Formats: sequence, C-alpha cells, structure tokens
Amino acid sequence: MFITFEGIEGCGKSTQALMLYKRLQGKVGVLLTAEPGGTPIGKAIRDILLNSQNRAMVPLAELFLYEADRAQHVSELIRPALETGLWVLCDRYCDATFAYQGYARGQDLELITFLNHRATGGLKPDLTILLDCPVEVGLERAHKRDKLEAMERSARFENEPEMFHQAVRDGYLKLAKQEPERFVVMDAALDRDTLSEIIYRTVAKHLPGPGVA
Ligand SMILES: Nc1ncnc2c1ncn2[C@@H]1O[C@H](COP(=O)(O)OP(=O)(O)OP(=O)(O)O)[C@@H](O)[C@H]1O
Ligand SMILES: [Mg+2]
Repeated sequence: MFITFEGIEGCGKSTQALMLYKRLQGKVGVLLTAEPGGTPIGKAIRDILLNSQNRAMVPLAELFLYEADRAQHVSELIRPALETGLWVLCDRYCDATFAYQGYARGQDLELITFLNHRATGGLKPDLTILLDCPVEVGLERAHKRDKLEAMERSARFENEPEMFHQAVRDGYLKLAKQEPERFVVMDAALDRDTLSEIIYRTVAKHLPGPGVA
C-alpha cells in the first residue's frame, strides 16, 4: 500500500502520518517519509524551497524543484520500498503540486500532470488522506507549532496571504472530487486521537489477515 497525506499548512498531516506509522508497526513493514526532503538530495532542495529569504524564486523554478525532489524520492526511496513489500506513508506527494503550484500559484495544470507523471514514472498512491479544515484552523496550529519549536519551517508558504491558502484548500477538494476512489476526505478539525482512529479503520481494511474488530 502506498498512502499519502495531503492538506493545507498545519492541518495535521505529519501528526497523523506518524500516528498511523506507529499503529502499523508490528503489523506490516512500513516506511514513513515526506516531501519535499525525503532523500539527502531532497533535503538540499527542501532548504531552497522553504527558505523565506528566497522571495525571488519564480513559480516555474519552484515547480521544477518540487518535481526534482519527487523524481529523486520515488526512484531512491519510495519505489524500492514498495518493491520489497513495505507499506509507504508519504507526507505530501503529487496532489500538493496541483494544489499549491497549480490551483494557488496558477501554473499550468497540464504541465504539472506531465511533470508529475515523469517524476514518478506514473506511480500513484493507493489511498490519499485529505485532512480538510478551515484555513484559520490550520494556520493557527502551524503558527503555534513554529513558535513552540522556535522554527521557521514552511515560512515561505505560511507567510502567503489567506487567499492563497484558501485556493490550496479549494484545489485539494477539487482533486478529491475528481478521484473519489483514491481520496478519503477527513475533518481535520477533529481531535487527533479521534482522527487517528478513523484513519486507522480506513487503512486496516487493507491489512493482511483478519480485519479489525
Ligand atoms: N487534530 C489536532 N488538533 C489540534 N492540534 C493538532 C491536531 N493535529 C495536529 N495538531 C497540532 O497542530 C500543529 C500542526 O500539525 P502538523 O505539524 O502535524 O501539521 P502539518 O499538516 O504537518 O503542517 P505542515 O503543512 O506545516 O507540515 C502541531 O503543533 C500539532 O501538534
Ligand atoms: Mg508537516
């Protein structure tokens, strides 16, 4: 199984991906990874992408950097892991590029489709968990987290106006409507344990052996 987590800043992707990872351990072999930055080369690309000093980055450069990170990630880590029978949980993947660079930044969706396809060799998730919540909820969580951790993690995106994040959210919901068999949309405003339980139950259907009670 290849499972991706998507949603706006601060919706809880990393939290839920880690919770699911812990719950799956001992049941299946599982790899937890994230974009951008899932490989050493990807980490260098991530530093460029998320550095708030890089205000001069043009949208096309941003798009190519995400796709470069993805090409490396799929080839070095995700595909080999799936081929050895591991489950792969990935915090952001191709849909994030449609939502951010496509719907929010206005880059050509056909170009993104083409680049995603080339970067991944056509590798699609079996299941995509879209954690959906109002923009204010996600941004407030992200700001609180960054303050606590004294970090400027995704500052280049967190500093975008609310309209930008609204376009990201709407873009994700559009994608989910286009592929209802792959997406599960969840209410990210729920508390983390409730959400984790719902996610586990969705995923547990695919575990080998008898299902959960
Ligand atoms: N269901 C929840 N209810 C309340 N707070 C939450 C919930 N899930 C996560 N949080 C908290 O909100 C903050 C953001 O969560 P997290 O880092 O998992 O989001 P994210 O979607 O990975 O964000 P980013 O897009 O910036 O990587 C964290 O401090 C986390 O502890
Ligand atoms: Mg995260």
